[in-house]
Amino acid sequence: MKPTHLVSIQDLNSRQLLELLKNARAMKKAKKPSRKLAGKTLGLIFQKPSVRTRVSFEVGMGQLGGQSLYIGPVELEQGKRESAKDMALVLSRYLDAIVTRTFSHSDVVEMAEVSSVPVINGLSDESHPCQALADLLTVQERTGKLAGVPIAYVGDGNNVCHSLMESCALAGAKLSIATPKGYAPDPKITGWSKQQAKKTGGQILLTEDPVEAVHGARVVYTDVWTSMGQEKEKAERIRIFNPYQVNESLMRKAAPNAWFMHCLPAHRGEEVTGAVIDSPRSIVYDQAENRMHAQKAVLLMLLER
Ligand code: CP
Ligand code: NVA
Repeated sequence: MKPTHLVSIQDLNSRQLLELLKNARAMKKAKKPSRKLAGKTLGLIFQKPSVRTRVSFEVGMGQLGGQSLYIGPVELEQGKRESAKDMALVLSRYLDAIVTRTFSHSDVVEMAEVSSVPVINGLSDESHPCQALADLLTVQERTGKLAGVPIAYVGDGNNVCHSLMESCALAGAKLSIATPKGYAPDPKITGWSKQQAKKTGGQILLTEDPVEAVHGARVVYTDVWTSMGQEKEKAERIRIFNPYQVNESLMRKAAPNAWFMHCLPAHRGEEVTGAVIDSPRSIVYDQAENRMHAQKAVLLMLLER
């Protein structure tokens, strides 16, 4: 059974995840526009700003022959104008699929519950599944596989970390996560991921020590310390996360020639130094490009029935 929505990576099983990545690779290689989604309209309903998610979905939908429209934070008044449920009930009368970016993950869940068309999570405070699909596609391109690949995530146990953890578990990768005390990923998501990893031969390790996490890693991943919606905590977070900066010294503790990844936008001098993100080992722009290829595969999975 194909999933109906993509609220989180937990909507997929291991086989579906690998199939999505295979389809994304094929479309990236073929470079041919298609008409598979001709006549269909994708709505992007965003409570928070976006560059990559918005543009990659809009361009991807166009390459599949469909069209898209965007409703942003200004029109939505940051999501305070009407309930997520009403929004989904109304919008599913006009649209063929909805990508939504919300503050609260429960808004995405509620929209999916009532929507008669597929709902895709374009980032919530809990998860960022489209990012994780692009991330795995990028790892696969560089290492030739996912099963058994040692990956380190250093920083905040946030939305990006959650989806990366879920997807690494499904793909059988070995993910080590280093976060400061009090900023570890959600135990429920960690529990689910560890269960999946048992079945796939993957591994999820949590630590507070960044050096332990990156030891032997072929990929070192980080994200911003202050996510959208947490701006008031910024000064405190900079102080707490300072020992978790990905710099050349930390990269030297990883496997030789390890790749550096970041979902972007990045803050040079905070979670990563310019010397690392601007080095030849950084594959952050491949990751950004792969958003579009991965999401085209998601759109086809959900809309081609
Ligand atoms: N990585 C990512 O989701 O970027 P945007 O916030 O620009 O969409
Ligand atoms: N964790 C970040 C990711 C941005 C793509 C945020 O939620 O702001």
